[in-house]
Amino acid sequence: MTDKKQQVVNPEALRALFEKKGIDAGEAALEETLKELDALVAEKIRVQKNKNRIVKNDSEKEQEKATEVLSKAQIEKLPKWVRDQLKDSVVIGSSKQVIQTPDGKKYHLGNTLNELPGGEWTFFLNSVINTRYPTSGPESYAHSIRKIHPSPKPPQLMRQIIEFFTKENEIVFDYFMGVGGTLLGASLCNRRALGIDLNRDYIKTYQEASDELGLAPQTAILGDSIKLLSKGESEIHKFLNGEKISLVLIDPPYGDMMSRPKTGEAAKKKLDSAPTPYTDSEDDLGNMDLESFFPIFNQSVESAAKLLKDKGHVVVFIKDLQPNGENTNLLHARMIEDLNKIEGLQYLGMKIWADQGVNLYPYGYPYSFVSNQIHQYILIFRKRDGK
Ligand SMILES: C[S@@+](CC[C@H](N)C(=O)[O-])C[C@H]1O[C@@H](n2cnc3c(N)ncnc32)[C@H](O)[C@@H]1O
Repeated sequence: MTDKKQQVVNPEALRALFEKKGIDAGEAALEETLKELDALVAEKIRVQKNKNRIVKNDSEKEQEKATEVLSKAQIEKLPKWVRDQLKDSVVIGSSKQVIQTPDGKKYHLGNTLNELPGGEWTFFLNSVINTRYPTSGPESYAHSIRKIHPSPKPPQLMRQIIEFFTKENEIVFDYFMGVGGTLLGASLCNRRALGIDLNRDYIKTYQEASDELGLAPQTAILGDSIKLLSKGESEIHKFLNGEKISLVLIDPPYGDMMSRPKTGEAAKKKLDSAPTPYTDSEDDLGNMDLESFFPIFNQSVESAAKLLKDKGHVVVFIKDLQPNGENTNLLHARMIEDLNKIEGLQYLGMKIWADQGVNLYPYGYPYSFVSNQIHQYILIFRKRDGK
């Protein structure tokens, strides 16, 4: 039985709701739902208590009106969300480095990386992002259009990453843009972006999605990013016009993963048995075997890093392949080692995105363990000063 002291949801109300929806789930399912709801409420209470404690602590700190303490130059550098509330904001603490807006959010005046309130900075440091993004309705960000691509990234996930590694109006570069998860994410938070893809249809689809969402389209170049990055003068340089990139955010195709015909359970059940190459071009990194892929990919990151500002970031999405008898296929580990060897680039750590929207298949059943890899690695590198 659920612990009565903790129970906040009325079991009879829940039972009536189940009945109304025509669900005969039984007592065990009812108990489980009650436990989950109670845990959710307990977590909300814990978070709110924590917030109340912080507000109380802050109210006991030294406070001065922001408009009276900050210089004109300091005010100009503030993010828009702080400037918009400036007249009701205060500078707290004796160091006079933290500004607090009336909704309790804090911004550090010495923040050189992004425009996030302190709480959101901390939230992003969680090494796991666990999500189930909708694929229909407004929160799907035109997924119905973007789904012509075999693996479109959710724009709201890309936005979160962009917001951590850039300030407003800075430049984001995705040279494997697909149908534009990164470019849409950049538009959603007022950053400029440049994308490249080999496939004309993907770029067209990105532009349609942008239009559908009422976002101004970012610059998208049709072409082979490997060739474009290796040229001294290219459309990339034309776009940059001497400016530097703050964030290279890429989700590369790797080592004929998409083009290899699916085998095993997925194929047997015709779940997604057709090979799904991004393009049939031999320039497509998705059509190369791993041994050809890695040197070309590493070289592309080295070239892209040269376009980064000092302390700019390279963020790469990668999944492992299934291990086989000969190879552990830990692509993420190999990529970390390889990219960390690029002069001037330093590996900072990773986040793991668990995509709960991925279907689970009974791979290996009933003989062997075969993992359903629903997660992707988000590898984070930073350019060292002066490199
Ligand atoms: C994993 S997908 C990226 C998906 C993207 N993040 C999105 O949200 O749609 C990789 C993309 O790289 C593109 N691609 C592969 N090789 C390329 C190359 N040499 N130059 C430019 N694009 C390439 C493929 O066409 C594919 O769309």
